[in-house]
Amino acid sequence: MDNHPIINLFKQHGDRYLSGEQLSVMLNMSRTAVWKKINKLKQEGYSIEARHRLGYRLMDSPEPLSLVTLQTELTTQRFGRKVEYFSETSSTQNIARNLATEGRKEGHLVIAEMQTAGRGRLGRTWHSPKGKGLWFSLLLQPNVPLRAMSQLTLLTAVALCKALRDETQLAVGIKWPNDLLIDGKKVCGILMESMAEEDRIQYVIAGIGISVNLLEEDYLDELLPIAQSLRMAANKKFAREKILASFLNRFEELYDDYHANGFDDIKRNWEEMSLTMHQNVRVQQLNRTLEGAATGIDELGALLLLQENGEIVRCYSGDVTF
Ligand code: BTN
Repeated sequence: MDNHPIINLFKQHGDRYLSGEQLSVMLNMSRTAVWKKINKLKQEGYSIEARHRLGYRLMDSPEPLSLVTLQTELTTQRFGRKVEYFSETSSTQNIARNLATEGRKEGHLVIAEMQTAGRGRLGRTWHSPKGKGLWFSLLLQPNVPLRAMSQLTLLTAVALCKALRDETQLAVGIKWPNDLLIDGKKVCGILMESMAEEDRIQYVIAGIGISVNLLEEDYLDELLPIAQSLRMAANKKFAREKILASFLNRFEELYDDYHANGFDDIKRNWEEMSLTMHQNVRVQQLNRTLEGAATGIDELGALLLLQENGEIVRCYSGDVTF
């Protein structure tokens, strides 16, 4: 049996809604106390639906990630073989950066069930509720110059897209540079943070957030029009360990091949998986907005934008809208 009296009550009542009033009588607490308790349970990873006039219903309970299952699914030599696991942390990026400065080796994985200060690109926050997603950072020590950073970003997006397509059979595509979308809604984001000296990369922290099993109730209202989870897209729950292992297996393969043979294969794969290619797009950069037709990526991973005046501009960063 569960430790939370409210959860026990929900379970005893199966699929039925329990009103705030009923819960307050059954638990002998005020309705405000019930409401506070429900919010706390949501933070702990329970999905609780609240419906006007009907009340509350338990939709899902958190299941911690199994590191044992993860290891049995891995075929890698390095990536994901050393793991730091947190039920809660500020941001896995911070922990991974500390590990890098302590001299830990490439492939070290930092994963958290929940982040209290998850970071996204361009200074945004990353919503990381408990037990529902894969929020992790991977330590890389690539043997390439700093100007190849964009290639690493695209490599990571390709590995993720392949893994998600394989594991879910969903139509996942990449929006330049590194968002993964299904039906126009974001399911996964990548944040690459690097430390370099002159043109030499010391380390890169690849931060990845995959919205695996979130339900509508788990999203902030403002995110629902633009984001969804794999579970919402497929209408079924996925084993997070399998998705993570599939990504790490793919990633190591592509990463080693890239070091041995260069960027050509990644470029080809990226173009095949891209939702941006051959589209008229707007690229919002820090200090300017560009518009044009996306014609491809160059050998360094920059987006090629054909403008109305016939000029081709290379974009190394920015946010794309269609
Ligand atoms: C984006 O699309 O803006 C990038 C999102 C990256 C989120 C992940 S979750 C794990 C890691 N820790 C963070 O704080 N951010 C990245």
